Amino acid sequence: MATENEPAPSAGDYPVPPMSRVVSYHRVQYKVKRYGVVPFSITIQAPRGFLLHCQTRIPVRRFPALDIPRIFNITESAHRIHNPITPEKLATLGAALRLDPGALVLDLGSGSGEMLCTWARDHGIIGTGIDMSQLFTEQAKLRAEELGVTDQVKFIHGDAAGYISDEKVDVAACVGATWIGGGVAGTMELLARSLCTGGIILIGEPYWRQLPPTEDVAKGCLAKEISDFLMLPERLASFDRLGYDVVEMVLADQDGWDRYEAAKWLTMRRWLDANPDDELAKEVRAQLASEPERYTAYTREYLGWGIFVLMMR
Ligand SMILES: C[S@@+](CC[C@H](N)C(=O)[O-])C[C@H]1O[C@@H](n2cnc3c(N)ncnc32)[C@H](O)[C@@H]1O
Repeated sequence: MATENEPAPSAGDYPVPPMSRVVSYHRVQYKVKRYGVVPFSITIQAPRGFLLHCQTRIPVRRFPALDIPRIFNITESAHRIHNPITPEKLATLGAALRLDPGALVLDLGSGSGEMLCTWARDHGIIGTGIDMSQLFTEQAKLRAEELGVTDQVKFIHGDAAGYISDEKVDVAACVGATWIGGGVAGTMELLARSLCTGGIILIGEPYWRQLPPTEDVAKGCLAKEISDFLMLPERLASFDRLGYDVVEMVLADQDGWDRYEAAKWLTMRRWLDANPDDELAKEVRAQLASEPERYTAYTREYLGWGIFVLMMR
């Protein structure tokens, strides 16, 4: 089998071909188990049926389960909607979309599943949600049971970055989690890859109600800088520049912000009472002490939030 330029396999060796002759190159499979070891296997497929296969198990450090930072699972554990949109406005949006029964809806960053579950109940949609929070995903499944829509909606615990559905959907949404695609434009690109022709993209995103007069005010709204967000007309113009028509929108208001932000305070207080010695107790205590003032001085005054309905031109 060996030519004059190739070493002949010695006794006991696998007949490994020279790399220049490897046709189907090599295939490396690895799988990180949450706890324990990395089963690591390399298969080298060579011409004329040569095959080298070796397998080993490499001990690795223990990985924590995939999740969002625990502080959010604590402060938003009682939320059904993890945004300033209210149940009424979510219903308004569902009606405004004129959804057909059986319409497929994909939701990246689906939270506790309220949008998909209520639209499944009210409009007969078929939904898939992906969320990185274990708690929120479990809550979404429970909500589906509560509303009797478990045969219509599926909730996957996982990282939605790069998620593309097998089947093209009628509505592809990312409501308040556009970091998943690296920003609004990247998330729209990601959603578009799951979308059928003529389908609808939903983007939930903040905008400035009033432009912060200083960078410190922007920071008070938990933005890194003023340029993190746009004023509403600029936000809409940005969709136009990306080649999309804005065909609807539902905007949150300050009452909706209160339902999202103020609802965290009682949750925090009750959690602190029940978990005084938890490692996050100090952080939660500090948030409970500072958030009402920060929120009312900054976010409530300066930040708007909306769900924008987009169709590619
Ligand atoms: C502001 S909340 C919005 C949740 C939901 N859309 C709603 O309106 O209730 C953002 C959500 O994104 C989820 N999330 C954050 N990073 C994620 C990722 N990489 N992949 C999937 N979900 C993610 C969080 O767990 C959280 O549920």
